[in-house]
Amino acid sequence: MSDQPSVWQGDLDRDDLVEAHAPADPFALFADWYGAAAACGLREPTAMTLATVDPDGTPSARIVLLKGFDAHGFRFYTNYESRKGAALAANPRAALVFWWEPIERQVRVTGRVARLDTATSDAYFARRSRGSRLGAHASPQSRRLADRAELEQRLADAEARFADREVPRPAHWGGYVVMPEAIEFWQARRSRLHDRLRYVRDEPGPWRIERLSP
Ligand SMILES: Cc1cc2nc3c(=O)[nH]c(=O)nc-3n(C[C@H](O)[C@H](O)[C@H](O)COP(=O)(O)O)c2cc1C
Repeated sequence: MSDQPSVWQGDLDRDDLVEAHAPADPFALFADWYGAAAACGLREPTAMTLATVDPDGTPSARIVLLKGFDAHGFRFYTNYESRKGAALAANPRAALVFWWEPIERQVRVTGRVARLDTATSDAYFARRSRGSRLGAHASPQSRRLADRAELEQRLADAEARFADREVPRPAHWGGYVVMPEAIEFWQARRSRLHDRLRYVRDEPGPWRIERLSP
């Protein structure tokens, strides 16, 4: 493709984001925006880009699904032995990005990352479909495979191993929480003079709100 100006104009200009109306708690604003994204028909409003840094300093990003959030942070689930798992073991920091196109909003999060406790991961794993639970056993996520048949064989092995019984959470699979140090809310405005409000804090202090130039 050639370097054409975007057809996307960001001209809705319907929801300005001003300090006077911004809640003191960024999670309240996130809940509000997430609710708007979920209400506008997006199939996966929970999809977020998760960026980590590999042990050799190489950045790496992929989509994961947000499975919950509260004042503590943003939770997702994955394979602890995956590329992202290795990255987080060496450098437990990450960035998250949400882009909700229909409402022209972006949210960026940076913070420290910790594993969820095993009881929380167990409870979530138990709610997944049997197929997904078997898949967690079968897939050595991020490892090289000889071919597709190897993966199918691994699934068949897992099915045989857990025939007629519950599929327990494998120790290599579970949740993480991203505990934000900064959360930036971006709202499209006319002529690309977008609103950007960044919440930052020095724990355990209160959040401060900074306005950034678009
Ligand atoms: C819409 C979508 C949702 C995804 N959700 C997850 C998820 O919640 N957890 C996960 O481990 N991978 C998820 N993936 C797969 C990841 O993008 C990625 O391929 C996988 O986690 C391996 O990443 P890694 O090799 O960097 O560790 C999702 C992919 C897409 C496209």
